[in-house]
Amino acid sequence: MWESKINVNAVCEIRGRSTVYLGAGAIRKIGDICSVLKKTRQVSRVLVITGKNSYIKSGAWSYVARAFEVNGFDYTMYSEITPNPTVDQVDEATDLARLYGAQAIVAIGGGSPIDAAKCVAVLKEYPVRNARELFENQFSPNKAIPLVAINLTHGTGTEADRFAVVSIPEKETKPVFACDCIYPLYSIDDPALMTSLSPEQTAYVSIDALNHAIEASTTVTATPFSILLAKETIRLVAQYLPVALSNPQDLTARYYLLYASLIAGISFDNGLLHYTHALEHPLSAVRPEISHGLGLAMILPAVIKQIYPASKHILADLLSPILCGLKGESNEADIVYEGLKKWLFEMGVKPGLGSIGFALTDIEKLTNLAFNTPSLKMLLDLGPIEATHASVSNIYMDSF
Ligand SMILES: [Fe+2]
Repeated sequence: MWESKINVNAVCEIRGRSTVYLGAGAIRKIGDICSVLKKTRQVSRVLVITGKNSYIKSGAWSYVARAFEVNGFDYTMYSEITPNPTVDQVDEATDLARLYGAQAIVAIGGGSPIDAAKCVAVLKEYPVRNARELFENQFSPNKAIPLVAINLTHGTGTEADRFAVVSIPEKETKPVFACDCIYPLYSIDDPALMTSLSPEQTAYVSIDALNHAIEASTTVTATPFSILLAKETIRLVAQYLPVALSNPQDLTARYYLLYASLIAGISFDNGLLHYTHALEHPLSAVRPEISHGLGLAMILPAVIKQIYPASKHILADLLSPILCGLKGESNEADIVYEGLKKWLFEMGVKPGLGSIGFALTDIEKLTNLAFNTPSLKMLLDLGPIEATHASVSNIYMDSF
């Protein structure tokens, strides 16, 4: 394929609603970005939002600190973001942003720090509001301070979309917030920062991207554009995930998995999502130790089994790099269900919701959360078949 002709060490600029720098060494662009923020937006005080370790372990921080120094930026840092971040973390970081007078935010990490940073960027502009009000749709923001996203995983696509996901612990919900004002102004997608991802992280984040593609191509709002990007995402994940798992340092594999996750993010920014995400969010809301991608992997085969008859032509085409020989016939649903479980197992995912701590008695609660969590019912309504209490329960049941 043409991929071998691309120089993965050449940084290219991908322009959408966010400007994304893609390529090994793209982290060096942080210097140019700081310079532009200084000249065009008079930025001199920045809040860095990140997790505990990855901003250093990845090697990103030394470039960011140097860029701040060269451009005369003052900064403060909030480094308490956890996987499946909470509204309380967002509120703490927002308090710091307000107290410090942050004029821009630099997020360093995977989806968790970047999504939390998107919320802080909004709340900094609304001094009397908090994260719970944001996620429970108690106001409609339309402005945010500038956000720069330095992405450290190849899964979420959040560096180029208008979505943020944060948990509300006391309600065991994980709602989605969407707003045009939270597209990062600039994002950095540097595959050289991702070679230290563990095999599990590598698989889970790539499975997140795969799900974005499968869903964005089969919603009732899917477009030719979302389907085009989804098709390429699935091809690239099928080709390069096994390579990255066998050789984590393979920069070409990391580059194309990262590119796949970026275009999957743009795909679902256009086509939106449906069942797999609506049913996963209750899993990682109830058990925050479960990574988003692992939760998605657990329920993907059962979701496909249900929707295949309604989306058979698109799915037979798009899944062909993973499951060859599909003809787009309704009676292939069970073949696809078994085939996806086998492929996921080959990628290192142990099947079954029981393996991640759930019991059959949890199905009723999970089903209620899928319907009652703010924003998730909207996702269910975008699926290619009608979502009922029984159909959602069946997907959970089929995932044990
Ligand atoms: Fe996702």
